[in-house]
Amino acid sequence: MVRGHLNVDESLLIEGVEAEELADEYGTPLYVTSSDRIRRNYRSIYESLSEHYEKVKIHYACKANTNLSVLKILEEEGSCIDAVSPGEIHSALRAGFSPERILYTGTSVSDEELEYAIKKNVIINIDSINTLSRLYQLGGYDLDKGISIRVNPGIGAGHHDHCITGGRESKFGVWEDYIVEAYKKALDFALPVSGIHMHIGSGILEVEKFLPAVERLMDIAGKVSNNTEVDFEFIDIGGGLGIPYEPGEEPLDIDEFSKEVTDIFKRKCAEHELGEPHLILEPGRSIVGDSSVVLTRVNDKKQNPYRKFIGVDAGFHTLLRPAMYGSYHGIINASDPDPENAGNFVNVKDPSGGTSENADESVDIAGPLCESGDLIAENRQVAAEEGDLLAVLDVGAYGFSMTSRYNSRPLPAEVIVDSDGSHRLIRERESFDDLFEKQVE
Ligand code: LLP
Repeated sequence: MVRGHLNVDESLLIEGVEAEELADEYGTPLYVTSSDRIRRNYRSIYESLSEHYEKVKIHYACKANTNLSVLKILEEEGSCIDAVSPGEIHSALRAGFSPERILYTGTSVSDEELEYAIKKNVIINIDSINTLSRLYQLGGYDLDKGISIRVNPGIGAGHHDHCITGGRESKFGVWEDYIVEAYKKALDFALPVSGIHMHIGSGILEVEKFLPAVERLMDIAGKVSNNTEVDFEFIDIGGGLGIPYEPGEEPLDIDEFSKEVTDIFKRKCAEHELGEPHLILEPGRSIVGDSSVVLTRVNDKKQNPYRKFIGVDAGFHTLLRPAMYGSYHGIINASDPDPENAGNFVNVKDPSGGTSENADESVDIAGPLCESGDLIAENRQVAAEEGDLLAVLDVGAYGFSMTSRYNSRPLPAEVIVDSDGSHRLIRERESFDDLFEKQVE
């Protein structure tokens, strides 16, 4: 049974390499990433959009995964970068991205951060009118490079409330009614303007949810262009393309997305006489999400009259998404996959919460942290013995990038596997001494 780079037979293979072999060599918990999967995901999005519109740029949202090896793969592929902090700018530059390929979209940005972005010559995407004024006061901005302004188009979507970044409740961007004023201000300051930006949210699986926001953004861009001298070089529609995590979730149809979005884009460019600006997309999850698994060893098993637990060595310090958003990640026993469900990478979440007839087989996969919320998965039908190796699926986006050292647990190692089966460490496992790295005694 095959799902891209993952193959289940007697055991789990990742790009043809035994998961057990990787766990033995590098230890657990371990992030394992397929380089080929990242390349394929990038290409499929880029090619699909380019089929419908010539001037397309992909700015990989590197908050999803900032490992330098991952960044270098995307640099080689020709991607640009969406960076949200000076640290991400620094990482992208280190990976070889030139400044003009980096768009910096901060929020609650300090003067020091603005100065850093100015010094590094990246394109700055402004989040508020006050920040625009501070940018002007700081001076020193490269006048060849235009700034962009993030608009809140009043529309949001996302897989969880925390991940909706447009609409009334959102802290991001300049509310659409104030956007003409913002651009006028930028022009008064003689700041060059090159773009407009929005990002409505993350983990969106339906094409239809993007479309009203794209229409809205294009109308806002039209309003700006009609009321000011602004001539847009790019219009950035953000990221947010979801991936299926749970059984029964359908993947976002990227070709339909590309067609529908570019249809609106082209139609509105003509209607508002916007010329042919670049169309920028900022995907994070859809490029790296399904490229990685976490391998985790079963430490312990126990049960009380009400619940069964499989205790593993990965917790929310390793993968925060289940604890933070209640997110689902597929789990397979890499040592002894269940042929019934492993091929589809399905383990059904018992909807009764463990009280149904199947409850006997339902287990919680629990981490080693001292918190009851430290569950990687709840009510799943996973059979495993102590010492078995489990694989937690689809952790390439917002997996390692959201790890912590909580409970004084050193950060895990990361490995990359190429399509020929060769593998190498891309981040060493931390040691106990690393826990004191910056402490002052
Ligand atoms: N552009 C901007 C300005 C963003 O803030 C984000 C994500 C993206 C692009 C990329 O979104 P994507 O294509 O990856 O959905 N930690 C959460 C996701 C937070 C996303 C934040 N912003 C999670 O684990 O689901």
